[in-house]
Amino acid sequence: MKQRIEQILAEINELKCKTQKEVEEARVRLLGKKGEVTRLFEEFRTMDKERKKEFGRSLNELKQAAQNKIEEYKNSIGEEANAAGPKEDLTMPGDAFELGSRHPVSIVRQEIVDIFRKFGYDVAEGPEIEDDYHVFEALNFPPNHPARDMQDTFFVSAGHPNPLLLRTHTSSVQVRAMENMKLPIRVICPGRVFRNEAISARAHCIFHQVEGLYIDEDVTFADLKQAILLFAREMFGPETEIRMRPSYFPFTEPSAEVDVSCNICHGKGCNICKGTGWLEIMGCGMVDPNVLEASGIDSKKYSGFAFGMGLERIAMLKWRVNDLRHYFENDMRFLKEFNTSIEV
Ligand code: DAH
Repeated sequence: MKQRIEQILAEINELKCKTQKEVEEARVRLLGKKGEVTRLFEEFRTMDKERKKEFGRSLNELKQAAQNKIEEYKNSIGEEANAAGPKEDLTMPGDAFELGSRHPVSIVRQEIVDIFRKFGYDVAEGPEIEDDYHVFEALNFPPNHPARDMQDTFFVSAGHPNPLLLRTHTSSVQVRAMENMKLPIRVICPGRVFRNEAISARAHCIFHQVEGLYIDEDVTFADLKQAILLFAREMFGPETEIRMRPSYFPFTEPSAEVDVSCNICHGKGCNICKGTGWLEIMGCGMVDPNVLEASGIDSKKYSGFAFGMGLERIAMLKWRVNDLRHYFENDMRFLKEFNTSIEV
């Protein structure tokens, strides 16, 4: 026994390990279930008292020496590996974290909302699936009125006196505002609209509008003109001029279409404004008394103006996008063009 203890002790003293794997192997060889030291302890258990006295202490010291040695290697090999530096090169640039960008339509929508908020307008939204009453009837489109042909409607439920449909314009939200809000009303209503149009560079079955409505006592066409002029200058630059052309909408009287001076050629004429120096941006007018009355507003006491514009059209003018379809196809090459517009 004595001899074997000395042998194993010598082995422990000479033990050399270079890797953690070797340390583990040495541990199993000495201290594992069938290890050399473990086996000596098994033998020790069967010894008589006298011999136990003789070897007890040196056996314990052997075990301690084996444990110490293995512990030492375990720690020092780890330290050497650390001293040589981590395996990864921490100076390598990281994987780029791709930030999404805002869609041009939502950028324009936000700009318009911010401008009108400064003028004291609230923002209102309404349902995309609307009923005939809010899209047509309350806006002075009687049944079979030829003006309904101006807007090719997707019907959700037909054959009903007040069928459900996908709203063809956000003017429906002005009706809901008149029904639900206290006077005076100053509101803009951005949202998605739908028309049964063949998809092309200039037309799409989905697009976005912002509707505006202002109702109070003594609101005049001069107020409308001023509001639109201020908006146009905030949106397209302080030099911008506007021009109004007489038009027709069932829900406004008088009605007008608004052009802004072309901010690309400054009136000289270019291919964006088709040589005219003007770009059409919206429809507007004084809210027809029939429309006020339909929503329970006294048209003798109150008057108001309304306007509506297409967001894709404004974005097209701003960034000179020449095809409406780009807005809906989610082509990353197109969307990435607007990366710089991110507000963090
Ligand atoms: N709703 C009209 C359209 O979709 C746009 C419009 C024109 C809205 C004149 C208005 C307005 O509020 O006064 O073509």
